[in-house]
Amino acid sequence: MSLLPIIIVPDPVLKEVAQPIENITEAIQKQAADMIETMYDAPGIGLAANQVGMLNRLFVMDVNYRKNDQSRDAVVLINPEIIWRSEEMSVMEEGCLSIPQQYAEVERPKTVRVKYIDLKGQVQEMEGSDLTSHCLQHELDHLNGTLFIDYLSRLKRNMILRKVDKMVKDGQIL
Ligand code: NI
Repeated sequence: MSLLPIIIVPDPVLKEVAQPIENITEAIQKQAADMIETMYDAPGIGLAANQVGMLNRLFVMDVNYRKNDQSRDAVVLINPEIIWRSEEMSVMEEGCLSIPQQYAEVERPKTVRVKYIDLKGQVQEMEGSDLTSHCLQHELDHLNGTLFIDYLSRLKRNMILRKVDKMVKDGQIL
């Protein structure tokens, strides 16, 4: 396994739509393993393929992950789609490994049910609320070229982008 570089804004690959995965090849298995390792190392609770420059529909997540905690329970979701969303909404502060150290409140359906393919090629469903729901939707958004800052006002979004740009120029990231 190896750590992959995480792409940060405003790289255009983050705005691209990722393509469905046709076959679960060894390359896909390796990509998933590398992404899990990269997510834990970051550290983060979710990572989508676009964020490591791969434009296929796969993301990994582990909402129970806490730094210094040894438990590891990552899920790999291939070709995920939301098949049900609650009418009830939830507001949570979100961050993103591609938008380092920036956080903002985002409103999303409180509960979603997602259908996906696992690494064995089996169709699976997962239902999650609150943090799990936000994470599922945030990561699925990545595969469609959408970032959490796209839900903010242009003023707020530009402020965040300028801050990240400044951190890059100051050598605080990468
Ligand atoms: Ni993200």
